[in-house]
Amino acid sequence: MIINGKHQNTIWVDQTNSDIIYTFDQRYFPHETRIVSLKTIDEAAEAIKSMVVRGAPLIGVTAAYGMYLAALRYSGAGLYEEMDEAALFLNETRPTAVNLRWAIDQQLTVIKNNPNLSHKELAQVLLTNAEKLKQEDINTCSAIGDYGLSVIREISQFKGGTEVNILTHCNAGWLACIDWGTATSPIYKAYEAGINIHVWVDETRPRLQGANLTAFELSEHGIPHTVITDNAGGHLMQHGQVDMVIVGTDRVTRTGDVANKIGTYLKALAANDNHIPFYVALPSSTIDWNISNGLTEIPIEMRSANEIHKILGKTKSGELKKVRITPEKSPALNHGFDVTPARLVSALITERGICQATEAGLLGLFPEYLQHELH
Ligand code: MRU
Repeated sequence: MIINGKHQNTIWVDQTNSDIIYTFDQRYFPHETRIVSLKTIDEAAEAIKSMVVRGAPLIGVTAAYGMYLAALRYSGAGLYEEMDEAALFLNETRPTAVNLRWAIDQQLTVIKNNPNLSHKELAQVLLTNAEKLKQEDINTCSAIGDYGLSVIREISQFKGGTEVNILTHCNAGWLACIDWGTATSPIYKAYEAGINIHVWVDETRPRLQGANLTAFELSEHGIPHTVITDNAGGHLMQHGQVDMVIVGTDRVTRTGDVANKIGTYLKALAANDNHIPFYVALPSSTIDWNISNGLTEIPIEMRSANEIHKILGKTKSGELKKVRITPEKSPALNHGFDVTPARLVSALITERGICQATEAGLLGLFPEYLQHELH
C-alpha cells in the first residue's frame, strides 16, 4: 500500500520497543493520516470496536496482536486462564467478521501448544505468531489478486482493450487488510499489468468506507476511479457502464452465502438483473465452515444510529467537523452488514483459486474441510 508515495503496511511493531504496536486511525482518512499506538489489550479491543481499524482481515490481525499485548501484562499463576478471558474479551468487539474469531483461535492454539511458559515467554510466541498471520495475510491477498487479475484480463480482451469498468462497495482494500486488499488486489494487479481499468466506488453510507477509504487508496495509487452514491450502481449497470462487480466479505458460509457491508445485496441483485458478473474476493480465514445458512446464521452487527444522524467532513478552512443531517426527533436504524445469497454470486476468488459459490466449489479448493464437523 502506498501513502504519500511511501510503501507501508496497516499495522506494525515498533522497531525498538516491541511492546508497542502501531496502526492508522482509519476514522480520519482521507483528511488526515493519524498513527495510533496500541500498548494494551484494552487499547487493541477499543481500536477494533470504535473502527480505528476495520475490515475483516485487519480486525483479525489486530486481535492477534491484542492477545500478545495481553500476555505481556498478565503474570502470575492464572496466566493461562487470563488468556482465555482475553480471547473472550477480544471476540466480543465486533460480531460479523469471522476473521476475528479465526485469528484469536490461531493464538489459542499456540497457547495450548506451549504450556508452562512465563508470561514473557508466552508473549514472545504470540508475537511471533501474530507476525506470521500478518505475513500470511499479505501473501494471501497477493494470491487473490493474481487469480482476480485473470478475470479482469479476460474482460479486457473481450472488450478489445477498451476500459474495464469495475464497481466495488465499501473498502475491501489494503486498509482493510495488511497490504493489497481482497477486492482491490485484482484491481492493483490489473493496473500494474497495464490493463485499462476504471473503478466505480460506492460511497458506502453511513460510514463512507468507499468515499473515504477506497477512493483514498485508489487515488494514492493513481488508479482511475469515480465515487458514486450508493444508489447509482443499478443505473450505471442498466446503461452498460459496469463490466463487473467485485466486493470483499466479512463471512462466507460453507455454502457460499456472503455477508458484507450493508448494501452489497442490492448491488448483487442489480448485477444479476443486468447479467453482470458479481465476484466476491476472500481469504480462506473468512469462510465459516460451521454454518450453511447466511441469512439465519450470520450475526449482523447493529451500530449506533448516530452514524446515520451525523456526518464528518472537512471545512474550507481545513477543520474536521461533524454535522447532523437528520431531524433531531427522527430515529435511525443502522445494520452494519447484509447477506447476499450464494445464488447471486458469480464466483468466489480465494488464495487457492476461483470457485463457484457452493459447498462443492469451496470444498474443491479446501478439501481439508471435507471432514469438518459442524459446531
Ligand atoms: O465495517 P467495516 O468497515 O469493518 O466493513 C468492512 C467490509 O465490509 C469489507 O468489505 C470486508 O470486511 C472485507 S475486507 C477485505
